[in-house]
Amino acid sequence: MEKLRIGIVGAGNIAQSAHLPAYAKRSDVEVAAIADINLERAQAAAKKFGIPAAYDSVEALLAGTDVDIIDICVWNRAHSSVAIAAANAGKDILCEKPMALNLEHALKMQEAVEKAGVMFMMAVPTRYSAESQLLIQMVEEGKLGEIYYAKTAAIRRRGTPLGWFTDTSKSGGGPVIDIGVHCIDRTWYLMGRPKPVRVSAMTSKRIGNYQTKGVDRWVALDSDVTAFDTEDSAAGIIHFENGACMLFEVSWALNAPPAGYTQICGTKAGATLDPLTIYGEDMGYLTDNKPTTKNLGIFDEEIAHFLDCVRTGKQPRSSLSDGVTVQRMLQGIYDSARLGREVTL
Ligand SMILES: NC(=O)c1ccc[n+]([C@@H]2O[C@H](COP(=O)([O-])OP(=O)(O)OC[C@H]3O[C@@H](n4cnc5c(N)ncnc54)[C@H](O)[C@@H]3O)[C@@H](O)[C@H]2O)c1
Repeated sequence: MEKLRIGIVGAGNIAQSAHLPAYAKRSDVEVAAIADINLERAQAAAKKFGIPAAYDSVEALLAGTDVDIIDICVWNRAHSSVAIAAANAGKDILCEKPMALNLEHALKMQEAVEKAGVMFMMAVPTRYSAESQLLIQMVEEGKLGEIYYAKTAAIRRRGTPLGWFTDTSKSGGGPVIDIGVHCIDRTWYLMGRPKPVRVSAMTSKRIGNYQTKGVDRWVALDSDVTAFDTEDSAAGIIHFENGACMLFEVSWALNAPPAGYTQICGTKAGATLDPLTIYGEDMGYLTDNKPTTKNLGIFDEEIAHFLDCVRTGKQPRSSLSDGVTVQRMLQGIYDSARLGREVTL
């Protein structure tokens, strides 16, 4: 089998801690080049991972090395420009979450990808855990009946990432777009991807740049960014065309116990994840079933699925249109919070 040639754009944390190690385990791909606006960082990553070429932009990479795939690991503001350059060059694309800085950027990406007819997959790894895959199979087989209610949360008491994450001009927002995207995306997927129609949400910026000691933080490689203008928590409700709704709560900083959950409720059974538990009924009694699954690593599973789609031409489970729909929900959350009322999507 001919090896697929990958070009990574963005040589930061997620590229080095998740994508490059996942490619390194495979014999059917070759990371042929890496680019970063910080050329020294791209060169250092190239040396560390044995990548033959390093560049300072996606354009230089596309001109200098022949690749089949562009894997986008840059901060959120640059997702659209890198994706559009890759699509225009006819490359298949794996794009880190969130799809884009905002809905406008996401729609421009969609236009370029559809015009070029290339493959595009959102990198949303929690969809690819063995538990998520088993649960979606159960949902698709109707084992939970009609899903009409869901709730999800990603609550950190103190866990604001440092660096570009807190600068809206580079990130697009705070916990909603950073970690809310994971739990909202996965919950919506498990609900069977109903069409979102209305959102009512609040966001808060009350805690801000705290000095709390003894807590861990994710530190972006450029941690000298001083801007701190994002929300630090949010909550709300998303309504869907089929009458179902999803409650969500997310925070980087909130005076509440840390929590992370995903719960979906159907007419025949309900489920929670991490660990997967099915709340059903059997022989007239309530049952809690905990299927045993084996996780191979969510980033490995995600990248294996993407490469399979590129080779076979099949539609990724986290598609371009899913990326746009999730971005529409995120935008609705920010619009509703800003306007102080429910918004129609
Ligand atoms: N899936 C996950 O669990 C997960 C976890 C962390 C981050 N992420 C996502 O990964 C992306 C990167 O986050 P990170 O934590 O690695 O950030 P990072 O700051 O560590 O790395 C981002 C890199 O992108 C580079 N860059 C910015 N604009 C560029 C451009 N136009 N061309 C080339 N390089 C450019 C920066 O110089 C930097 O080296 C973000 O979209 C983030 O949301 C996903």
